[in-house]
Amino acid sequence: MEIAVAGKATLQGTIEISTSKNATLPILIAALLSEENIKINMVPEINDVEIVKKLLQNLGAFLVKNDNSLCIRSFVSNIYPDYDLVRQIRASLLLMGPILATRKIVKISLPGGCAIGTRPIDLHLKGFEALGAKIRLTGGNVIAEARELKGNHIYLDFPSVGATENLMMAAALAEGTTYIENAALEPEVVDLANFINSMGGRIHAAGSNIIKIEGKKRLHGSTYTPIPDRIEAGTYMVAAAATGGDLLIKNVIPEHLKATTAKLVESGARVQEMDREIRVQRIGPVRPIYIKTLPYPGFPTDMQAQFMAYLSHTSGSSVITESVFENRFMHTQELMRMGANIKIEGRTAIIKGVPQLSAAHVKATDLRAGAALLIAGLMSEGTTFISNSHHIDRGYENIVDKLNRVGANIYRN
Ligand code: EPZ
Repeated sequence: MEIAVAGKATLQGTIEISTSKNATLPILIAALLSEENIKINMVPEINDVEIVKKLLQNLGAFLVKNDNSLCIRSFVSNIYPDYDLVRQIRASLLLMGPILATRKIVKISLPGGCAIGTRPIDLHLKGFEALGAKIRLTGGNVIAEARELKGNHIYLDFPSVGATENLMMAAALAEGTTYIENAALEPEVVDLANFINSMGGRIHAAGSNIIKIEGKKRLHGSTYTPIPDRIEAGTYMVAAAATGGDLLIKNVIPEHLKATTAKLVESGARVQEMDREIRVQRIGPVRPIYIKTLPYPGFPTDMQAQFMAYLSHTSGSSVITESVFENRFMHTQELMRMGANIKIEGRTAIIKGVPQLSAAHVKATDLRAGAALLIAGLMSEGTTFISNSHHIDRGYENIVDKLNRVGANIYRN
């Protein structure tokens, strides 16, 4: 799959943000915690959601789609999710919590590493053990088994989003109370907690670094709409600034975008926050800035690649330190094919601004790298061809239509 991006573009107009990929994926999986009807509204049409839907069906759930709502009725009849589906997305790891909670045994293929690092699962497994599960690694699979799950204190060495979500789901049906300490604070973790509470769960203080979960015997049905996608929104905010445009971005929660907004303003863009909208303009030159990615509410690692593209064209040198993943600079060499001047030293990238980027044939290595190359294509002279563009479709609903409606000229080859 390839997309062609004609530069130089100036984006102007209005873009509507879709529901969050990283909230929707764990929420769809958490539907397995109840055998009653679950209805999730505004489900985004993106590849990762399609894979999770297939995984739920593989486990014995019945899914009915009407418009952009998805009705789920599940009885977990399979404890070994299909390998070919599991290996396609890291989020499949989140199936462990609900299957262990409902069937007391789960067997799942160990996630392969991916373009942004080895991404171990030690924090997930340590948490399941704390809840009483025995863990076995055999033949490329991990098996977790427990006579019963009992609440406990779990301390996360790192505020892992996935581990916090996985353990929250397991603890929701455990006997007794669980405390997850040094928990992730991401809005998607809070949204998952709100969803589980809408099913009758008792999760307190999600969004703080100590989450308390009072286990329940069973959870009832629910209807729920996940939050808007703060990374999709941030990506379009950067695209507006990178092209010297003027975009009104609707259906956002400005509170979730504070770090992105702060860095855009620091670089010289103008950002106006309204209740559920953000307007981004850039009139003057892009100023070089320093960024360090951190767990929420720090600067999001999922926005790092997009800012690297944007900062490739400034009057000085910017510095980006990637402290969350150990190998998330794969997009650098592709940006350098477009004329960017970037030096990597360990986890730090020094981006020396150049007067102009130029179109090239480039390759998307992961979802956010693909988005970064798309932004670079909009900034460049000529037409950029991005191969492996399926990565982009994993997490950006209708991105070609949304951008072409505000002045881009992008087409699928
Ligand atoms: C979630 O991944 C997101 N994915 C990622 O978004 C996001 O980049 C990441 O959180 C950080 O914000 C989804 O929500 C589906 P982590 P996750 O566990 O849960 C290490 C995107 O582009 N770690 O917080 O996998 C890990 O190696 C994707 O939408 C362990 O060491 O992230 C990494 O260095 C990319 N042991 C760091 O923690 C563990 O057991 C952060 O990982 C688990 C994680």
